[in-house]
Amino acid sequence: MIDPPGHSRRLSDLPVFTSRPWQMSYGERTFIEGMLSMLKPRLAIEIGRAEGGSLRRIAAHSDEVFSFDLVEAPAELLGLENVTALSGDSHAQLPIELKRIADEGRNVDFVLVDGDHSADGVRRDVQDLLDSDSIVNTIILIHDTLNEEVRQGLTQVDYDACEKIAWIDLDFVPGYVASLSERLGECWGGLGLIVVDANGGFRSDGQRHREDLFDQPSLVWPVAQWVRREGRSPATLADCELVPDQQLQQAHEQLSSVTADLELHRAWLNGIQGSISWRITSPLRALKRRLRER
Ligand SMILES: C[S@@+](CC[C@H](N)C(=O)[O-])C[C@H]1O[C@@H](n2cnc3c(N)ncnc32)[C@H](O)[C@@H]1O
Repeated sequence: MIDPPGHSRRLSDLPVFTSRPWQMSYGERTFIEGMLSMLKPRLAIEIGRAEGGSLRRIAAHSDEVFSFDLVEAPAELLGLENVTALSGDSHAQLPIELKRIADEGRNVDFVLVDGDHSADGVRRDVQDLLDSDSIVNTIILIHDTLNEEVRQGLTQVDYDACEKIAWIDLDFVPGYVASLSERLGECWGGLGLIVVDANGGFRSDGQRHREDLFDQPSLVWPVAQWVRREGRSPATLADCELVPDQQLQQAHEQLSSVTADLELHRAWLNGIQGSISWRITSPLRALKRRLRER
């Protein structure tokens, strides 16, 4: 729909500012909307639909969508004509669907990975996608790339061995660090991008990622760890006395070893003090103390 000149749309009418549940920041939603508007996928896949926040927008821009989640989709989403909402484990279902799509000689144009957030789970989802012959000319977006567990899984994927990858940026849209007390210092959000272009042409210089930038976790995680340890936010970055993880680990180990020793000596001392000979010789020790005081 094209608005008449001079007419400005209300922000609340824009689909990314919807009040319906969508487990992403406005920045992430807007990026996904922009990507889908440019791409107009014929075939899209979403892993992890939850209440359908991202699925509604993928469906609005795509001819056909396969959506995976452990739980059944709400009736309203099942009613979307171009959506096949599968319920079950993506690690079992995704390889089967990808093979079927490849056997039909079709390409998946767009994928959103936002399902299993365990390190091994996200690694398997991404690896299954990269291994498939239906992923040839594809934009893959991965949500929560700032999360430690998710990122750990993503760094275990052997991207170098996958020649059809043309570009990879796990910090394409930045994530965020929670400041609410119940989630203080937790790292979530962020969208990673993998461009698969088996036919070449995406970039001619052969470069597959930015080598001139820090990755976001190397800067953000130490501060987030400090926030979790101290239980508060730093007023300035200079307030954070960052202790490297390894040093902290060593200090913890030393502390537990000293505490164990102390417990052992305390038990030994209690044993002596409770013994009969200790009690019999008690008056003698009292006399010795008094003589020493004089
Ligand atoms: C963060 S939510 C998805 C949010 C949704 N993309 C959005 O933007 O609103 C993650 C979903 O992944 C699903 N999930 C977790 N493990 C899964 C698995 N192994 N296979 C399929 N879905 C899984 C969960 O049931 C949950 O609904």
